[in-house]
Amino acid sequence: MKKIAIITSGGDAPGLNAAIRAVVRTANYYNIQVIGFKRGLKGLIENEFIPLDARVVSGFLDKGGTFLLTARENRFYQYEYRKIAIENLKKHNIDALFVIGGNGSFQAANLLVKEFNFPVIGIPKTIDNDTYGTDYTIGFDTCINTNVEAIEKIKDTTMSHERIFIVEVMGRKSGFIALETGIATGADVILIPEYPFPLHVIVDTIIEGKKRGKNFFVIILAEGVAKAQELAPLVERELSKHGNFGEVRYSVLGYIQRGGSPSAYDRLIASRFGVFAVEHYIKGNINFMVALEKGEILAKPLNVSFGKIKKPDLKQFEVANILST
Ligand code: F6P
Repeated sequence: MKKIAIITSGGDAPGLNAAIRAVVRTANYYNIQVIGFKRGLKGLIENEFIPLDARVVSGFLDKGGTFLLTARENRFYQYEYRKIAIENLKKHNIDALFVIGGNGSFQAANLLVKEFNFPVIGIPKTIDNDTYGTDYTIGFDTCINTNVEAIEKIKDTTMSHERIFIVEVMGRKSGFIALETGIATGADVILIPEYPFPLHVIVDTIIEGKKRGKNFFVIILAEGVAKAQELAPLVERELSKHGNFGEVRYSVLGYIQRGGSPSAYDRLIASRFGVFAVEHYIKGNINFMVALEKGEILAKPLNVSFGKIKKPDLKQFEVANILST
């Protein structure tokens, strides 16, 4: 009987539990045993694990976070710790390691492939949606929905006070979250690292908008561009040179973006990714990442996912700009 191990690694994202459940249940369906290592790569080093079966994962489909726990483990970048991890995997007679992670986790796990010829399968997750080689990563849709809900509330107060408001969202160095949040909330300005524009464009947009009768403005700022705390006084100072625009307020949405029950879309994708991953492995494939491309689920070599930068579609950015006039 084959035996696989599963970990969730890196920042959590809604839908991780749904993906674990899908892998475990599919494996059980095909008579494959599963154990889960706790806290991602850290658990591999410390040999902290729990046996998993169809019943253990019951009730997790709709839960945020990851019941296997997660961590960012820098020791894994040292060969001696990877050796310990491999020894632990071998101790448990594991045939393949399933990593639910982002590009960083895949790059780390790929070292097990390169150095020890150990089979690894990647299932992409991150609210940032920045994993190269897949159109979608588990957790992104829930994050956008969370942001839309929060920003609709911010818009109510911004409108009532006729203010200018900056909302900072996550995404590390990528702008997918800001772009889609901005389009879905009808933001007046969307600032993302991939298509930057200077301060005066923000200021001009507000001045022009005001002339056309707009009396409140929402700016969505990707954290990779600037901190809202620093941008707000800059915009305020520039605007004050052109009249009375009032104070520029800001909110940082922060970690609420990573929590919560996964959306229906994330539950579906996590389930489909998990089933595909196990079935593709059973067919004899290893060292691949599950990907969504043009609506289809397929496999890509694991090493496609890192080393290259995934950028939001320029057309999408143009849509945002056209609609924010
Ligand atoms: O990668 C997901 C993410 O939430 C980023 O958007 C954010 O910059 C980062 O993780 C925060 O990480 P940490 O949990 O280490 O603060």
